[in-house]
Amino acid sequence: MLLFLDTANVEEIKEINAWGVLSGITTNPSLIVKEGRDFKTVVKEICNIVDGPVSAEVTAEDVDGMVKQGLDIATWAENVVVKCPLTANGLSACSQLSRKGIKVNVTLCFSANQALLAARAGAYFISPFVGRLDDINQDGSALVAEIVEMYHMQGLDTKVLAASIRTPVHVTQAALAGADVATMPYKVFKQLVKHPLTDAGMALFAADWAKANQPVSAKK
Ligand code: E4P
Repeated sequence: MLLFLDTANVEEIKEINAWGVLSGITTNPSLIVKEGRDFKTVVKEICNIVDGPVSAEVTAEDVDGMVKQGLDIATWAENVVVKCPLTANGLSACSQLSRKGIKVNVTLCFSANQALLAARAGAYFISPFVGRLDDINQDGSALVAEIVEMYHMQGLDTKVLAASIRTPVHVTQAALAGADVATMPYKVFKQLVKHPLTDAGMALFAADWAKANQPVSAKK
């Protein structure tokens, strides 16, 4: 499973990219607005930093508007992916853009049937929103597993991108369900690497090393 960062913050992207584990970025209109920067400028900058796919979302709600925006976004960088919402218009736009060879990430997916429609419309990624389902007392991770199984049974090659990840447990669950990608906020990425026993082990090794390397007089 590939690991994507869900952010439009360039500093966060640079920091996690330096770990050598980052395979792509997802953004959405809320994340772009949070940065207070020009949409195109920030997406192009991110595409230059990261080798993998960078999702940038259309904001129009009608088919022609989405297609027009999608065609424009697709010219911003080679690794940009156009994000369309899982509405009837979004499916139509996805279908048109996909037929032109543009990669589309269909976002705001909350059911297996929606995921089936997105695949039929030629989506490159489908983004089931795990955390937002958990928020309304449904099992977001179970949906990821269901879509993975359904795509496998049906021979559909749309990639399952587990989104709206809120905790490290969501990441493990997505990996065990067979998701192709999990996208997560900076905070969750940082949580993945931390373990108190790793910190304790490091402190012990460092203390033993320092003791062993003290001058002979100090060891007595
Ligand atoms: C994914 O592409 C979305 O940008 C994101 O995962 C949404 O997460 P949220 O539900 O925490 O806003």
